[in-house]
Amino acid sequence: MKSNELRQIFFEFFRSKGHIIVPSAPMVVKNDPTLMFTNAGMNQFKDIFLGNHNATVNRVANSQKCLRVSGKHNDLEEVGHDTYHHTMFEMLGNWSFGDYFKKEAIEWAWELLTERLKIPEDRLYATIFEGNTEENVPKDDEALMYWRECFDNPGDRIIEGSKKDNFWEMGDTGPCGPCSEIHIDIREDSERSRLPGRELINKGHPQVIELWNLVFIQYNRKNDGVLEPLPSKHVDTGMGFERLCMVLQGKKSNYDTDIFQDIITEISRITGKPYGKTEKWDTALRVISDHLRAVSFSIADGQIPSNNKAGYVIRRILRRAVRYGYTGLEMEEPFIFRLVPALARTMGSQYPELVAREDYISKIIFEEEQSFLKTLGKGLRMMEKMISDLRKENRNVLPGRAAFEMYDTFGFPVDLTQLILRENDMHLDITGFESEMQLQKSRSREDA
Ligand code: ALA
Repeated sequence: MKSNELRQIFFEFFRSKGHIIVPSAPMVVKNDPTLMFTNAGMNQFKDIFLGNHNATVNRVANSQKCLRVSGKHNDLEEVGHDTYHHTMFEMLGNWSFGDYFKKEAIEWAWELLTERLKIPEDRLYATIFEGNTEENVPKDDEALMYWRECFDNPGDRIIEGSKKDNFWEMGDTGPCGPCSEIHIDIREDSERSRLPGRELINKGHPQVIELWNLVFIQYNRKNDGVLEPLPSKHVDTGMGFERLCMVLQGKKSNYDTDIFQDIITEISRITGKPYGKTEKWDTALRVISDHLRAVSFSIADGQIPSNNKAGYVIRRILRRAVRYGYTGLEMEEPFIFRLVPALARTMGSQYPELVAREDYISKIIFEEEQSFLKTLGKGLRMMEKMISDLRKENRNVLPGRAAFEMYDTFGFPVDLTQLILRENDMHLDITGFESEMQLQKSRSREDA
């Protein structure tokens, strides 16, 4: 089943349960000081949950473009090295604003997965909140009761989880509540019989992963950390679209789905490096296909790469892609901008802004690639030398002054220096770096 078809099945299912399908909110957030990018489908409904706005309808669903690269939810450094984390991803969600609650949320999630999409029950697990006395939130017996009605064999399949995994919060403040997650085990049968999937839930196994999170929004986390009960109870769900595609397309990696393969094929055509040959190429192909999406969608939403705030986050993502292209695929000339048409072809029917702004997106990416490539090669060679010198001396901390010189003289970003050091089990003396920075600031004040 193609990804575009699957998205429509999700919409159709929730339409049949009385939901209105609403458009994705922009991925770049302009009017919430607590958030730079949309990190969950519920962001656009925050004020409804908090009781600040009245909802015009009380059941909605959509596919939301999300970016998790800053703040509370940040997956950037995992991306490319595993098969299921992304910067930008689509979250399929359904919401109830003071209308239905746990019973329907659980029953419908189950019906969609097991009846409509025919995912075998023996691959699924549900987690529920075990409760937390400090927060004064009880164990979620209600969710437990409804899950017991879903599974034939509930004893093996329902797992209690702590606040870390089963109490969802949008950020440091804002709407939140206990959540119940559906996990799936897509390992081979032989592995499944050796070790039950329940042992691997929330343990970072690439084939035993969270698929859908059902959050029962009941509180507002205040600035002082106190949980304040909300006037109404709401449902906020989020299912990883790329993961669902992986499951239904019988793949073991999100990058093997049609969502990514069309783009990866195009990168391979341009670079001459096919997917599935070497780990080095594969990592680079995954990073670039992922980051292309994040950067293109941001530019389409009006956020271009720049030197501060949201613009800097986008710049860092794009530079990370350029670096993997350079070191992993030997691309010393701009090429990522050439991938925008393939992305617009794959996702443009759902997100027409990609098609409308295709040329503009390509142009911005091209300019950014071109300027960064000028400093990248030289900086990387210097990094290599410094790392090998440190190794020879059996040291693992790069002095702040060295990183500062790279930054000051060649414009080599310090976060990239830190990233490369981490990849080599080393780190930067950040205090030293910051005092060099301060020194330079006072020097330039004196000069002025
Ligand atoms: N808001 C919930 C999440 O992002 C559904 O996981």
